[in-house]
Amino acid sequence: MKHFLNSADWSRPELQAMIDDARAMKAGPTSEALKNKTIALLFLNNSLRTRTSFDVGARQLGGHAVVLSPSGGMWPLEFEDGVVMDGDAEEHVKEAAKVLSRYCDMIGIRAFPKFQDWQEDRKDKILNAFAKYADVPVVNMETITHPCQEMAHVMALQERLGTLDGKKFVLTWTYHPKPLNTAVANSALMIAAKFGMAPTLLCPTEDYILDERYIEQATKDAGAHGAALTISHDINEAYEGADVIYVKSWGALPFFGNWKPEKKIRDRFKHFIVDEEKMALTNNALVSHCLPMRRNVKMTDAVFDSQNCIAYEEAENRLHVQKAIMKALVA
Ligand code: CP
Repeated sequence: MKHFLNSADWSRPELQAMIDDARAMKAGPTSEALKNKTIALLFLNNSLRTRTSFDVGARQLGGHAVVLSPSGGMWPLEFEDGVVMDGDAEEHVKEAAKVLSRYCDMIGIRAFPKFQDWQEDRKDKILNAFAKYADVPVVNMETITHPCQEMAHVMALQERLGTLDGKKFVLTWTYHPKPLNTAVANSALMIAAKFGMAPTLLCPTEDYILDERYIEQATKDAGAHGAALTISHDINEAYEGADVIYVKSWGALPFFGNWKPEKKIRDRFKHFIVDEEKMALTNNALVSHCLPMRRNVKMTDAVFDSQNCIAYEEAENRLHVQKAIMKALVA
């Protein structure tokens, strides 16, 4: 049994096979590939795309989804092992995972960081606890990485560009009034390197460099095809000649739990917004964002609504790639 927790656990050919299957299902959406199969979707955070696309995808393949969330009446869960459960939690993840495994064929988990201590958040305890105790495959629906988003992005890029090898991929930090999760940024960097692109991480200062685990993974994968990961704080240098601009905001890891001083730094970099002037420096680059996105804060209307923006294609592809992932996991 294999889980889908992180794209780093899967080889490029394995991921490409799922994307190829997704492309076939985009042309012919319905089948009975998941007939009578059920996926439990556990959402500890909000969602529009992930929740809808997993539910619709399971139905299109003859299966169905059960959505669980604390606001929907689920018992509060404990995720630490060996604790005296005299707090708010009524149920341990061990029982929840094992019982859901008796009803369902897969379990999807969305559990964002707590944003108090990155050293704790980077352990990804909730996802890993479900993977440890479940007797069925577990899918990461966004925790500290977002592998389903990565797959949808690569599929959308391949639809427009064909092969991605050698393309210059720029992950740019952008301003947002709140410190956001690094999950999509971690994922974007890793998948760009894995699929043969030359990745650049553009961020305002050293504080915004992503966790070393993902930097190392992207460096290793880029190196395997003769490329190198570039880290830049220079907007012009990063955009110059880029083939892909991926847009995301995130909070600086050293400031987890201490956000007031981070906000003062972040507020100085509103000019990182993706606009037509910056896009003019690129090699007619495609641009995308995982959504939801604050228009005219992260990206101008003119860029988002341009022919070069593939955000809607990427969002649609969530449906197709997740169907392929579910099929691969229950096969
Ligand atoms: N991109 C993404 O995961 O969207 P949701 O948060 O709406 O699910």
